[in-house]
Amino acid sequence: MTQPLAIDRERCIGCGLCVSDCLPRVLQMRDGAPALINADACMRCLHCLAICPSGALSIHGRTPEESAPLEDLPSFSSLSRLVKGRRSVRQYRPENVPAPVLKEILDAAAHAPTGVNARRLWVGILDDAASMNAFRAEVYETISDLAARNAVPPSPRSTFFVRSAQLWKEKGEDALFRGAPHCLLVGNHKDAPCRDQDPFIYLSYLELLAQSRGVGSCWCGLAYWCLKLVLPDFLPRLGMPESHSFSYVMLLGMPAVRYARTVEHGPALVNSIRW
Ligand SMILES: Cc1cc2nc3c(=O)[nH]c(=O)nc-3n(C[C@H](O)[C@H](O)[C@H](O)COP(=O)(O)O)c2cc1C
Repeated sequence: MTQPLAIDRERCIGCGLCVSDCLPRVLQMRDGAPALINADACMRCLHCLAICPSGALSIHGRTPEESAPLEDLPSFSSLSRLVKGRRSVRQYRPENVPAPVLKEILDAAAHAPTGVNARRLWVGILDDAASMNAFRAEVYETISDLAARNAVPPSPRSTFFVRSAQLWKEKGEDALFRGAPHCLLVGNHKDAPCRDQDPFIYLSYLELLAQSRGVGSCWCGLAYWCLKLVLPDFLPRLGMPESHSFSYVMLLGMPAVRYARTVEHGPALVNSIRW
């Protein structure tokens, strides 16, 4: 079996930073260099690789050479402008986001933190506009069929979903998916330690990455509730595994609008707590 930990002894300066930053304490200094003493308990967080000042440590097939130095990070002012300038995009161009751009965004967003570094999200994307259009049409047709048979499962939103299907039929208006060419669905493994939190962290990172790359996005509670309450049979057809719980939906696409400025909501309402 290949060793998960590889130390370049010529580069290792024996500083022990990797050992002291290891949360599960699976590294120990042996003969002046780190050794992995309990590989099964390793969280695979790669903190040891990230902290090594001399780039001597590789683990689980990840090497310092494929990492980027932490230089040229966005400044607070550019990051806060991105946060304040991010908008829910509800007008999209009909074409696909170029596949390399989508890949870049998805690859970066996959680095969002997950509790206990479980990394057990399921992410599915309708990444072809034609496929998204077929999906969209079937969603509305199925709601219409259910409504005609009086078989829409009762929920506080059911009337809205039936009305959306009518709007689609009569005017081609897409109230659920806002005409987006892509739709991203996220689930998390039912056994993931932070099952309910991980997906929202992931989508928050993904949204900012997308908008920094000129790609529009919109959290889509309407599509989430529609699939969850009215069309749960669509989830396995979309590829969502039985082992995962369905978490949320985000729309993506090239925007057909351009926002000119940030939105300023004023100072944060934060309660200062003294103990
Ligand atoms: C959890 C969540 C669910 C949302 N669901 C929808 C939705 O189904 N359809 C929609 O058009 N916008 C949806 N939005 C967008 C909000 O309406 C939007 O964030 C809010 O109006 C503020 O606008 P902004 O995002 O441009 O700042 C959702 C936002 C969040 C955070």
